[in-house]
Amino acid sequence: MSHGAPLFVGNWKMNKNASQTRSFIEAFVPLADAIPPHIRIAIAPPFTALGSAAAALSPSRRVALAAQNVSEFPEGAYTGEIAVSMLAEFDVAYVILGHSERRLYQRESDAEIGAKVRATLAAGMTPILAVGESLAVREEGHAVAHVLAQIDGAVGALDDESAAQLVIAYEPVWAIGTGKNCDCERAQEMALAIRQRRSAFAEIPILYGGSMKPENAAAYVRMPDIDGGLVGGASLDPRSFADLIAGAVAA
Ligand code: 13P
Repeated sequence: MSHGAPLFVGNWKMNKNASQTRSFIEAFVPLADAIPPHIRIAIAPPFTALGSAAAALSPSRRVALAAQNVSEFPEGAYTGEIAVSMLAEFDVAYVILGHSERRLYQRESDAEIGAKVRATLAAGMTPILAVGESLAVREEGHAVAHVLAQIDGAVGALDDESAAQLVIAYEPVWAIGTGKNCDCERAQEMALAIRQRRSAFAEIPILYGGSMKPENAAAYVRMPDIDGGLVGGASLDPRSFADLIAGAVAA
């Protein structure tokens, strides 16, 4: 953990409505206030809760907002989609892109994810590009090649200045929501391979995601190329998310 300020992002996926989001924030902000201020913290509620989250977070500004997806198009006839300008209205700082659940259920391609990354950067927000291999790919021994191909496919054509603004989250698909977290050495090996992919990645935050919990978070962020976490299940409870971050950064 040595590349800029550590970053922890709670990806709530399709959980919590607006009032549940407000309750979370009421409980979480005092806990977050006790975490050293250089640690960056964000939550990614569903789109429908972004407005109430923005209002509840604005007095303290300790916790930033993230979105779970965005359209690559600026506006227009795209039923069901959300544009970057709509996120900007709620001071969204980060956008998670390329999550394995969207790659799987919405069939998002690397090219589409790349277009979303460019739209996000152009709007002044930080993309969190999620990458990761399935169990079959890992067992075949192609995990690193697979992840690097996802990165090249989505952001290979970005100029260096833009590439240096990314956050990349390594989330092995087999470790997401399964309780089977990836051991730290393998996560570090992947984080290093990502970092070495291009010189523009030398200082970007690289996060680990996949069954990160208060009990195991510290071991990841002790790794030299892992700078924080993209946390699913353990970010849904205010105490558990705060304990995870506090424990990780105390290590
Ligand atoms: P879990 O922490 O629930 O395994 O989810 C990880 C994830 O997909 C975060 O984006």
